[in-house]
Amino acid sequence: MTLQGHHLVLGVTGGIAAYKSCDLVRRLIERGASVQVVMTESACRFVGTASFTALSGRPAMTDPWSGANNGMPHIDLSREASGILIAPATADFMARMVNGQTNDLLSSLCLASDRPIWVAPAMNRQMWSHPATQANVALLRERGVGIWGPGNGEQACGETGDGRMLEPLEIIAHLEAALQSIERPSTPPLRGLLSKRRVVITAGPTFEPIDPVRGITNRSSGQMGYAIAQACAQAGAEVTLVSGPVSLPTPMGVNRLDVTTALEMQAAVDQALSSCGPSDVFIGVAAVADWRPIATRQDKIKKETGGSLASLEWIESPDILAGVGARPPSQRPFTVGFAAEIGQLSGMGEALQAKRKRKSADVLVGNIATESLQKSSAELMICGPDDTTPWPRRDKAVQAANLVIEIARRLQEAESN
Ligand SMILES: Cc1cc2nc3c(=O)[nH]c(=O)nc-3n(C[C@H](O)[C@H](O)[C@H](O)COP(=O)(O)O)c2cc1C
Repeated sequence: MTLQGHHLVLGVTGGIAAYKSCDLVRRLIERGASVQVVMTESACRFVGTASFTALSGRPAMTDPWSGANNGMPHIDLSREASGILIAPATADFMARMVNGQTNDLLSSLCLASDRPIWVAPAMNRQMWSHPATQANVALLRERGVGIWGPGNGEQACGETGDGRMLEPLEIIAHLEAALQSIERPSTPPLRGLLSKRRVVITAGPTFEPIDPVRGITNRSSGQMGYAIAQACAQAGAEVTLVSGPVSLPTPMGVNRLDVTTALEMQAAVDQALSSCGPSDVFIGVAAVADWRPIATRQDKIKKETGGSLASLEWIESPDILAGVGARPPSQRPFTVGFAAEIGQLSGMGEALQAKRKRKSADVLVGNIATESLQKSSAELMICGPDDTTPWPRRDKAVQAANLVIEIARRLQEAESN
């Protein structure tokens, strides 16, 4: 995890080597970085945005007018990035950088950013050795842009010489060296994404008492829900965290309500959502016990006096998420739920989508209980009305920040329709 905690903007421009950048994204993510891919229009002629979106777990961006990030993606996207890496960098793109042109999202981003910029040029050997390209590269280097490569060898055009993009692992070696002197931002940028919105989050397990000393619960530690609460607060939301019994500190700026049972959690959620509407958000992360004993015994059930847990009668607990999803439109917040599954996430898309619909959630986040409960990282599957996207295993703080970005984007889209 040599890149853990680093957020990178990966610019992909229109050269044949763009296909190698798919592998580059995989390897960056494997090493713990979060990656926002920004593509030029020409790059999209070589590789589709869908590949980069799936590999990075974030929508690959091309359009400066997308309306994302407060309508200012050319300013915001790189704000909290450790740097901007452009691979492959075409001759044309480097010429545009030299001239300070801003005729697309990626070039605007480069001009509007104070973050380090590194480029991995890739082109035909004649294009590379042309005095125009060499002069541009010299100027970029003079201005502090890192120029990594190109390598020498056989080229896609059939010629041999200088101009091949460095291999992903060679680029990563340069990146690791360059990042040694750069402080790791803990999570991607969140500032202002949820300002003026109320967010109600449930987290942790519930505990359903059987008698004064026993109960039924689960192994949820609350880490994911607490990380999301913290990320929402950082994004400027007014956050209420309805928490089952966990041993975690309350995140800064978060209003926490402690509950024990599913019924108490439902009542606290209803209360917290009482003045919420469609511009607010509910995120059900808690692992709510599906069943509870019909009655709690007043005295400890004792074996010696013939008592047995086998005779306990059970009743289903309320489905808090489905209840929120079914609220009338004017009182219904944007509704996000977590589903703890067993097995393999890949191939679970259809079942998760069916569950999302059943619960009337806007987004359902699938995760594998045995691989997520009590762990500091998780692999997720994000299911929206038109999409099912796997998010590779990452630290829960990073997943939480990414989820907040995702929710903010979807809310903004829904509100502009
Ligand atoms: C099939 C094909 C392959 C290309 N490969 C490269 C390349 O490897 N490097 C390069 O600098 N330009 C290459 N070009 C030219 C660029 O795509 C062109 O200059 C484009 O305007 C670059 O746009 P961009 O810099 O905004 O991505 C290629 C063009 C075509 C049609």
